Amino acid sequence: MKEQINSNNLPKHIAVIMDGNGRWAKQKGAARIFGHKNAIKAVREVTEGCAELGVDCLTLYAFSTENWARPKAEVSGLMSLLVATIKDELPTLQKNNISLHSIGDRSELPKETRAKLESAIQETSTNTGLKLILALNYSGKWDLTQATKAIADDVKAGTINPEDIDQSVIAGYLSTAGFHDPELLIRTSGEMRISNFLLWQMAYTEMFFTPVLWPDFRREHLFEAILAYQGRERRFGKISEQVNL
Ligand code: IPE
Ligand code: IPE
Ligand code: MG
Repeated sequence: MKEQINSNNLPKHIAVIMDGNGRWAKQKGAARIFGHKNAIKAVREVTEGCAELGVDCLTLYAFSTENWARPKAEVSGLMSLLVATIKDELPTLQKNNISLHSIGDRSELPKETRAKLESAIQETSTNTGLKLILALNYSGKWDLTQATKAIADDVKAGTINPEDIDQSVIAGYLSTAGFHDPELLIRTSGEMRISNFLLWQMAYTEMFFTPVLWPDFRREHLFEAILAYQGRERRFGKISEQVNL
């Protein structure tokens, strides 16, 4: 399948809602955290697949602002798993020339999770290959809110004029500033919703939904999603004849 991918029409930025870990575990009669533990392989496959193809940016939705509402044990299990995973995967990131980034409110993360995350971001900051962005304690509404506050602060401080606020100014205040908008969103587990992910940034993103549960997601599924993307006609409001000149 990889050979069928047109390298001149790759999405530069792929965003993934990694969903279905709990159901995967349940099918096996195991606790939900077993599903989260078995999600690491899928993360590695997709990350390496993107790096191999030459995708510029991969954003993984790992924990939403709403996920704090889950049972306490699951939340703390997920936070510890994050610490362990970042530590274990660091050599793979270095080997593949991948730089780590994060979006979301880091200030609310447990101390150790935050410390591990920030040191991995620091240690991989000079890598020039794939940019791996972890969305952690992230939500689209949080992002728009923090951007709005920051713009208001700058207006108050006199560093920007309200009449100068346009779409590119707003984009520059979002936590994704500097990264282009995703061309492709993949959501696993059969759910067909955005779940408060990149709201502004996905205004024109192509959506790919698959019933595959995240722990079962492999390179071939990534390639399948990219091929589906390459079969889409992206019109951006125009008509077919205009985009097929
Ligand atoms: C996705 O899997 C992982 C996170 C949201 C952290 P889920 O834990 O949502 O799994 P399901 O949707 O309950 O199967
Ligand atoms: C979305 O998955 C968040 C992440 C993948 C981190 P959820 O499983 O939390 O989404 P909903 O609540 O079912 O929409
Ligand atoms: Mg879910």
